Amino acid sequence: MKIHAIFTFSFAAVAAQQSVSDAFIYSLPAAEFVKTKLRLLIKVPKTYNSFAVNQPLLPNETFTAVVAPNVDTVYAAGLFDLRESPRLITVPPAKDSRYVVTDFIDPYGNSVFGFTTLENPNGGNYVLYGPATTDEEANEYAQVKNAKAIKFNTSDVLGLVRARHNSTDAQSAADFLSSYKAERLQFGIDEPRLLKLSTLLAQVALQGLSLQDILITPSKYSGSLQNSTIAWKWAFLGLKNVEPDSPASAQYVKTFESVIDEAKANSTFLTEIARQVPSIVKTIQAAALETGKQYGNGWSDTSDSIIGNFGENYLVRAAVAFSVYLALPPTMAIYYQTVKDATTGAPYSGSNEYQFTFKQLPPANGFWSITAYYGLGDPNYGFLIKNPIERFSIGDRTAGLIYNPDGSLTITVSAVQPANPSANWLPVGANRTFELFLRVYSPKPFISSFVPPAVEQK
Ligand SMILES: *[C@@H]1O[C@H](CO)[C@@H](O)[C@H](O)[C@H]1NC(C)=O
Ligand SMILES: *[C@@H]1O[C@H](CO)[C@@H](O)[C@H](O)[C@H]1NC(C)=O
Ligand SMILES: *[C@@H]1O[C@H](CO)[C@@H](O)[C@H](O)[C@H]1NC(C)=O
Ligand SMILES: *[C@@H]1O[C@H](CO)[C@@H](O)[C@H](O)[C@H]1NC(C)=O
Ligand SMILES: *[C@@H]1O[C@H](CO)[C@@H](O)[C@H](O)[C@H]1NC(C)=O
Ligand SMILES: *[C@@H]1O[C@H](CO)[C@@H](O)[C@H](O)[C@H]1NC(C)=O
Repeated sequence: MKIHAIFTFSFAAVAAQQSVSDAFIYSLPAAEFVKTKLRLLIKVPKTYNSFAVNQPLLPNETFTAVVAPNVDTVYAAGLFDLRESPRLITVPPAKDSRYVVTDFIDPYGNSVFGFTTLENPNGGNYVLYGPATTDEEANEYAQVKNAKAIKFNTSDVLGLVRARHNSTDAQSAADFLSSYKAERLQFGIDEPRLLKLSTLLAQVALQGLSLQDILITPSKYSGSLQNSTIAWKWAFLGLKNVEPDSPASAQYVKTFESVIDEAKANSTFLTEIARQVPSIVKTIQAAALETGKQYGNGWSDTSDSIIGNFGENYLVRAAVAFSVYLALPPTMAIYYQTVKDATTGAPYSGSNEYQFTFKQLPPANGFWSITAYYGLGDPNYGFLIKNPIERFSIGDRTAGLIYNPDGSLTITVSAVQPANPSANWLPVGANRTFELFLRVYSPKPFISSFVPPAVEQK
């Protein structure tokens, strides 16, 4: 009898651990969403129910709010709550042949609806509606407003727009983004932003989290999940504040609730559950590494990934939320990354000089650029690298690039400026590790035959 009881207990404990781990993985993107929402509500009030530029036009090494920021596009964001009313979004026609990507995502990072100025140069009107509005109502609005109706499974929507610039015209890219319009369709008024914010902050407090726990924890890369107690409460906060995208969610909410009840009464239990977080995070990290297509020369990419279209693959969804939340789906952009020298297996280091040659330029219908960030093990991992010429990336619009006679392009990556040609120099930090990101926007159909060149130490 006694043995049986012990057996039952440990079996239940294992089951509980499994379901807590599943719930954590399920909720991680929602937690990222709540964090993004809080940050926007506090720091960029104009993104509430309208579009506003939400990052510096020309980010540099001091910009650390976002990991691996892009320096070639101006960003605008808009937070829409479709419980309050469906929204009419008016996208302006493309201007000055500027390349722009518009993407509407749900809190889990699914790209529900998006396009670029290449397929949709004329813009248009879109009625976004969630579970609070019937298809019939939405179609009526759409007809009246000469719009297309777009259905969302969840009521929280984040609109993200990226407009290419060439560093001299960032302001006009920003002006273009401010001509995006978002309008309420039903009578009444939206809940005021400050009220919405205070409700969310109350939820944060209820979980025993401070705002600092959520917002000022270091970037994910340096371990915002290193404090397991915070990580675990934070995941629960995400799940509680975001609508489910599938019935599985209800089961996970229940798991979390029972754990919280138990933990309130028994702090040993909380400590035990929290102790699991690092191993769950390891599982997620491993999945993040595996999701990329590997080239065997140090590079991997997202061309085969399900970014933005996760279905029920919750582990990959969490991995993306963990490493590149809000990344674009491969139809819109492919991200190539290299963090280690394939020959030595060590992270790239600014103590060395490296070179690579694009025999074939990245096949982009939109544009391409390659950006250097501090690398593995660096306290500024993922952020832009301070350098004397204020250059953070090289791309197809970098002024003065010198192409080889056969049309190929050689780029030198080093801390010390090479003798010549300096325009092809991508600076990194002396004695500090770095990684490289190549972004290819609106990839050409034959992109799958493109192989990024190995980065070779000279
Ligand atoms: C870096 O960016 C910040 C914020 O946009 C700006 O205030 C600062 O002047 C920039 N630094 C340099 C060296 O340009
Ligand atoms: C939305 O719900 C529909 C119907 O249940 C489902 O087919 C679709 O995959 C869901 N979309 C997302 C992004 O979850
Ligand atoms: C984790 O965070 C909690 C809540 O802020 C704090 O009480 C605890 O000391 C932290 N633990 C560690 C190891 O930093
Ligand atoms: C508290 O939780 C621990 C770990 O799960 C468990 O071993 C212990 O029996 C619990 N204590 C009580 C009073 O339930
Ligand atoms: C940058 O863009 C502006 C306006 O869009 C254009 O006039 C200028 O020639 C561009 N500069 C480069 C180097 O492409
Ligand atoms: C880089 O490291 C080398 C060898 O460890 C050292 O001699 C040199 O002073 C360092 N340079 C900088 C800029 O820190």
